[in-house]
Amino acid sequence: MELLLLAQVQDDMCMFRPASPPAESIRDLSILVLAITGLIFLIVEAVLVYCIIRFRRGAAGSEPPQFYGSKPIEIAWTAAPALIVFLLVLVTARTLWEVNVQPPEPREGDGALFVTVIGHQWWWEYQYEYYNGQKLGFATSNELHVPVDDAQLPRPVYLKLKSADVCHSFWVPKLAGKTDLIPGRTNHIWFQSKEPGVYLGQCAEYCGTQHAKMLIRVVAEPNMDFEKWLANEQRPAVEDPAAQKGKAALLAQSCINCHTIRFPDSPAKGTFGPDLTHLMSRTSLASGILRNTPQTLHDWVADPQKHKPGCLMPAFSVNEHDRALMVGYLSTLR
Ligand code: CUA
Repeated sequence: MELLLLAQVQDDMCMFRPASPPAESIRDLSILVLAITGLIFLIVEAVLVYCIIRFRRGAAGSEPPQFYGSKPIEIAWTAAPALIVFLLVLVTARTLWEVNVQPPEPREGDGALFVTVIGHQWWWEYQYEYYNGQKLGFATSNELHVPVDDAQLPRPVYLKLKSADVCHSFWVPKLAGKTDLIPGRTNHIWFQSKEPGVYLGQCAEYCGTQHAKMLIRVVAEPNMDFEKWLANEQRPAVEDPAAQKGKAALLAQSCINCHTIRFPDSPAKGTFGPDLTHLMSRTSLASGILRNTPQTLHDWVADPQKHKPGCLMPAFSVNEHDRALMVGYLSTLR
């Protein structure tokens, strides 16, 4: 198994290098809180060390002058912490205000993308709802494509977060704060990026044995590329005449109870697993843990439990010939 560029993942998931307004607000708040509490820590530790040395047992004249009940000191050390806490409450409230934005209604030409994110054990489903006021209505998984701002128009992304099973948490540190996906509840986050690129994230709430392998890739691209991607995703599955045998082999299997492949009169309408209509337009498999190539796809189909023990996709006993045909068909789904 090939973990995708772990070094790059570490580097790219730094919340101190934000690329979106909510992530910037969170970074600024963290630095402020760290500075204030760090300063208090230094002062307290310095006084402590001074007292330990200056008044250690046995040193000549070590007994400090004793006094009790100084009103000015009592007032000072009650008022100062209360003021500091009040300041921290104010800046935290301001940050929450900036981060928790109720999504607006989609309208023509707003440049905004609306996606419903559904956490599953252990993958991400993205239902594309609206872009620029246009209704979309298709689903993809694990790799979230979003547009970046351009000079004329900011292009914010509003995510509605839901869960199909247990609690998960959507966290792409450079774009937005960590937010939970809770069964029976809907949460919202938003972000907006100026820099095209791949932003990495991770499920941040323990959700079962494969929690660590529930990775997120956000592909932020210029509007032209994003619209090209959208147009392709909206099309039905590619019909490759050379892959018809594989298609028939796949549709004869129980794969179709869990996966959707969109084409007219398709029997593959399952929603328990990822939508496969444009499977090969994704760079990774199994929520970011495998590079998506015909070879890894073959290995995955042969035995998902080898790569992701406990995942809900079982290994089907399909003979090698049929499996090759099926993977051949899946490999055409660009
Ligand atoms: Cu999903 Cu942890």
